[in-house]
Amino acid sequence: MHINQNYLNLKDSYLFSVIAKKVKEYTATHPDKNIIRLGIGDVTLPLVPVVVSAMQQAVTEMGAAETFRGYGEEQGYAFLRQAVCGYYGKKGVALRDDEVFINDGAKSDLGNILDIFSPDNTVLIPDPVYPVYVDTNIMAGRKIIYMNGNAANDFLPLPDKNIRADLIYLCSPNNPTGAVYSREQLKAWVDYALENDAVILFDSAYEIFVRDKTKPSSLYQIDGAKECAIEFCSLSKTAGFTGTRCGYTVVPHELKRDGAELNKLWLRRQTTKFNGVPYIVQRGAEAVFSDAGLAQINGNIDYYLQNARIMADTLTKLGIWFTGGENSPYIWLKTPNGMPSWDFFDFLLEKANVVGTPGTGFGVNGEGFFRLTAFGNRENVLEAMRRLQSVGIAT
Ligand code: MLT
Repeated sequence: MHINQNYLNLKDSYLFSVIAKKVKEYTATHPDKNIIRLGIGDVTLPLVPVVVSAMQQAVTEMGAAETFRGYGEEQGYAFLRQAVCGYYGKKGVALRDDEVFINDGAKSDLGNILDIFSPDNTVLIPDPVYPVYVDTNIMAGRKIIYMNGNAANDFLPLPDKNIRADLIYLCSPNNPTGAVYSREQLKAWVDYALENDAVILFDSAYEIFVRDKTKPSSLYQIDGAKECAIEFCSLSKTAGFTGTRCGYTVVPHELKRDGAELNKLWLRRQTTKFNGVPYIVQRGAEAVFSDAGLAQINGNIDYYLQNARIMADTLTKLGIWFTGGENSPYIWLKTPNGMPSWDFFDFLLEKANVVGTPGTGFGVNGEGFFRLTAFGNRENVLEAMRRLQSVGIAT
């Protein structure tokens, strides 16, 4: 018997678990402190009314013999897959409902999708990056090449013709930096993937924050993307589903490698290893895509974007360099006076009782940077910004 030795190559703990542990230890020794959490991107506004009533209705159905449902389709109910297609239609992207797979959030599928690719594939991952892309590939023992995101390229790395990769992770609007790729930049990635026979794994979990209509909110808005990309999206941030759990993965029929349709492989994988998302949750998710649902969730997104503006204004006032905060719920700032990321984390926790995420947790290029999220409630965001201004962090 042998364990998967690749697990021994992982850092001891997942980034957000480390932060949660540190905050727990601090609160245990300082129970009187009012800690404001702007670390993990967890939403604070409740589910919107149309979602709540759709789920209540679904609960009632599940409690009556005539409308009760047992196992559903592993890839999700057709009503929800069609609603997702309708949403993509509004973006000018035509999808068939069997190209949409309902999941319990993007994180699971971003890791699970690796089942359908050979362990020999080389993976290209931006740095800084959402740690799930890195950790899941380390677990599978894949070779990882990193591409540098930095202030010089606005944290939006572009393809390098000298580098050959099979799988490419992109996230736009980006977690952690909040940076958003333009149409031309994404076209460069699609062209690169097509030339190299590579597959892009495109994380669009923050697509709803794109308010600048010149910027793409789906990679499929770029010609050729259906032949080279899988897109992952989540209702966690879109509709406050971090605790409710629902998202979707799009695998277009046009996407073929080694003569096989990836859509068929993924369906085969999901029907074997996944039993679907609860009916009640899928009814709630369906309501998100109704006209009333979209209007209500966009009200919440406006609120978070306003938080981001408040945070951006404070950083500007303090003379602190940052990116993001526009078309994104994340603000990525340079730590004052070149302070290492974890030192700044400790400083903010102790002096301002504000929790953020150290940039170095997202990769080596994150050293000297720090991420704040705009998902707090308004009062806390305002208070956190007041505290930032009073602890002497101006550069
Ligand atoms: C984050 O803070 O980066 C996200 O909330 C984590 C996630 O979506 O899993």
